[in-house]
Amino acid sequence: MITKIKGTYDLLPEQTAAWQQLEEVIAAVSKLYHFQEIRTPIFEASELFHRGVGDTTDIVKKETYDFLDRGDRSVTLRPEGTAGVVRSIIENKLYSSPNLPLKYYYIGPMFRYERPQKGRQRQFHQFGAEAMGSFDPRLDAEVIGYAVTLLKALRLENVKVKINSLGDKASKLSYRTTLQAYLSTQVEGLCTDCQHRYLENPLRVLDCKVDHDNPILINAPKPLKSLNEADQLHFNQVLAYLDAMGIDYIVDESLVRGLDYYTHTVFELEADLPTLGSQATLGGGGRYNDLVESLDGPAFPAVGFAFGMERLLLALESMEQKKPASYTHVFMIALGDKASVASMNLLTKLRHGGLICETDFFSRPLKGQFKQAERVNPKFILILGDDELAQNVVNVKNTKTGTQETVALEEVYRYIVDAIQSEAHQCSGHCSECEDDCE
Ligand code: HAM
Repeated sequence: MITKIKGTYDLLPEQTAAWQQLEEVIAAVSKLYHFQEIRTPIFEASELFHRGVGDTTDIVKKETYDFLDRGDRSVTLRPEGTAGVVRSIIENKLYSSPNLPLKYYYIGPMFRYERPQKGRQRQFHQFGAEAMGSFDPRLDAEVIGYAVTLLKALRLENVKVKINSLGDKASKLSYRTTLQAYLSTQVEGLCTDCQHRYLENPLRVLDCKVDHDNPILINAPKPLKSLNEADQLHFNQVLAYLDAMGIDYIVDESLVRGLDYYTHTVFELEADLPTLGSQATLGGGGRYNDLVESLDGPAFPAVGFAFGMERLLLALESMEQKKPASYTHVFMIALGDKASVASMNLLTKLRHGGLICETDFFSRPLKGQFKQAERVNPKFILILGDDELAQNVVNVKNTKTGTQETVALEEVYRYIVDAIQSEAHQCSGHCSECEDDCE
């Protein structure tokens, strides 16, 4: 038997409803913030990630899926979405749009060769957003507000927003030198990887996954101390806008993030929920003011974030959200040959009218068809036998109230639509039972 590749998984039909709901909320919140969807290829020239994400990051050094294609070109399955979006806006010259900032979002698979565990796969999915073309601190706050609104729309509670600033390229460089000098005096106290890492990429040492409780790291100099006046002002303004927007945050001076392109604001959204296990970080992002230029585009400041879709769904499981209500309106039970033919005609009409319908495909006896109807959990069960057909009627059972009525065949569509609408009207959008209809 051929099995799936380690770190990948099948999304089976019983799980896709939750994904579709999440995608719908993302699309709705993105509209609120005026972000439009962009779709870029899942593989790109390897050089894009080496130069974009950073040669010395764990992601590029140890986690990318690189291969030579049949034309001997080195290509990489994207480990994240930002570099591809940046490549696309440069290649398509979208930076010259008069309509700035560009505000784009994406949902799609990403690939990292990591040790698989709960909330960490080798093929996973991100919902990411990038706002490009402005260095206004309001845009940092807007992007964080968008991320927080998404979590609110999902009714995820107890989410922490952690924020920090790395400053511009010069501040980052000066911080790098300070940090490297500090770490060089205590190399033996670092984990084996960090004993080398501190030389090529000291900021990554602060992000060490093995050793984050190490006092050497806790007491290390912090980036905020290396900010110049303008960077400090920008950071203070971002925080002031967040205050104005009613967003709670924690300034976490140790937050540096795992990708090299960040400058200025960096942030992460964390939820301490049992279903997430050790993967409490739902998403993260920040400014990357120099990335477009470093990939041969013009100076084009930008800020963005990405959430792990799998982690959002795991977090939702912890919140004991109600299971999605049944979306099936009708289960059709047909008994007898003539009724079976007529039922296919009726189903077609109901579906053309927008009703979600299912029926039996095994010629089960009546009891078996009722059992199947129970599994499908429709709002109405229609029972059509040859006798009913002779009288041009059908029996309609409302599964919620348990009542059954005989309805003329040509009126059954109107009957069901009216019943669904009146139920939706009665609970005016706040009923936990039939919210889906009300919305
Ligand atoms: P990142 O922090 O590398 O940032 O990834 C963002 C999120 O993707 C993580 O917080 C996590 O939820 C999810 N994630 C990462 N790796 C895995 C994995 N192996 N399995 C499951 N989920 C995972 C970025 O990727 C940046 N591109 C974010 C960004 C956009 N910054 C600016 N714009």
